[in-house]
Amino acid sequence: IKPQDIDPSKLTITKTTTPKELVPPNELVFGRTFTDHMLSLEWTAAKGWLPARITPYQNLSLDPASSVFHYAFTCFEGMKAYKDANGQIRLFRPNKNMARLNKSSARICLPTFDGASLIELISKFVQTEERFIPSTKGYSLYLRPTMIGTQRTLGVGPPGSALLFVIASPVGPYYPTGFKAVSLEATDYAVRAWPGGTGDMKLGANYAPCILPQIQAAKRGFHQNLWLFGEEEYVTEVGTMNMFVAIKNKETGQKELITAPLDGTILEGVTRDSILGLAHEKLVPEGWKIIERKYTMKELSEASKEGRLIEAFGAGTAAIVSPVRNISWKGELVDCGLRPEIEAGEIALRMKEWIEAIQYGDEEHEWSYVV
Ligand code: COI
Repeated sequence: IKPQDIDPSKLTITKTTTPKELVPPNELVFGRTFTDHMLSLEWTAAKGWLPARITPYQNLSLDPASSVFHYAFTCFEGMKAYKDANGQIRLFRPNKNMARLNKSSARICLPTFDGASLIELISKFVQTEERFIPSTKGYSLYLRPTMIGTQRTLGVGPPGSALLFVIASPVGPYYPTGFKAVSLEATDYAVRAWPGGTGDMKLGANYAPCILPQIQAAKRGFHQNLWLFGEEEYVTEVGTMNMFVAIKNKETGQKELITAPLDGTILEGVTRDSILGLAHEKLVPEGWKIIERKYTMKELSEASKEGRLIEAFGAGTAAIVSPVRNISWKGELVDCGLRPEIEAGEIALRMKEWIEAIQYGDEEHEWSYVV
């Protein structure tokens, strides 16, 4: 018999008897507090996906030999549930997260699943946790679908069992007092991703090695790493976000919004893709060119010196956009075009506004999924 795929109709729900008190919205810290329940699905190679369960949020009980602890069989997603003006719950492009989780999971020999079925289960889960979803703009319920290998063995091989779980954390605006442009340290001594590697997937193993360079950059007074690659010093990503730069072309004076191409070393960000889509729709008619290509630190430095670097920002689910003030590179502080008195460029601000309008259902759009 073929191992079975997820069957959302088999979901069971066990409600908590000790509901948590809600944290006041202004006290929310990203990923610090969690809701009353969690969604879990077990998988075995023989049987496939077992019935999904919503249970009280609880510790996992795992054998210390479980493969997740030894060989990094773990991958995850980041997505959010929003409450719109009518009190309806919405997700943002959840099919993108399902596709990426399947891709990440397959790469580390963990199981794949039907994305539409998991979206159905996540919808039930966020309905269960409705009271934790703040209704104020800028607030949301951050969802963390996670897949781990659970097989009890130190043998190095594909896990014969896995656990897929989803936990949820109410979050406020990433910048509660408004944008704060960040300073970056161009990082060449540590490499985040490389050709043929797994930097385009959301594997836990991509994240842990990036914390030490982040601490080292912080010690030198910088908020984040700007990850470079190769002798050419290609600009790839910033911290855990995709990177965008707006530049005036040296030859033509043409305004260009540039981000690195998906060549296997760049995370396939949902926000990245949304920004590119919105830029094509709204910035191209204003005369902008939207370009996915490799670009170097040298180019940025030159553009900055010649007054052609208009702005730079990171893009991700957690913050949507994160404006960049400057980049430390080879003893030089590359100014990214923001006047000292402002914290965000025009493109970053408009992108945030456009994306939030869709996420909170102020603008009807196919990217918004009503639960
Ligand atoms: C994001 O920017 O959304 C991220 O990837 C951050 C997450 C790993 C906490």
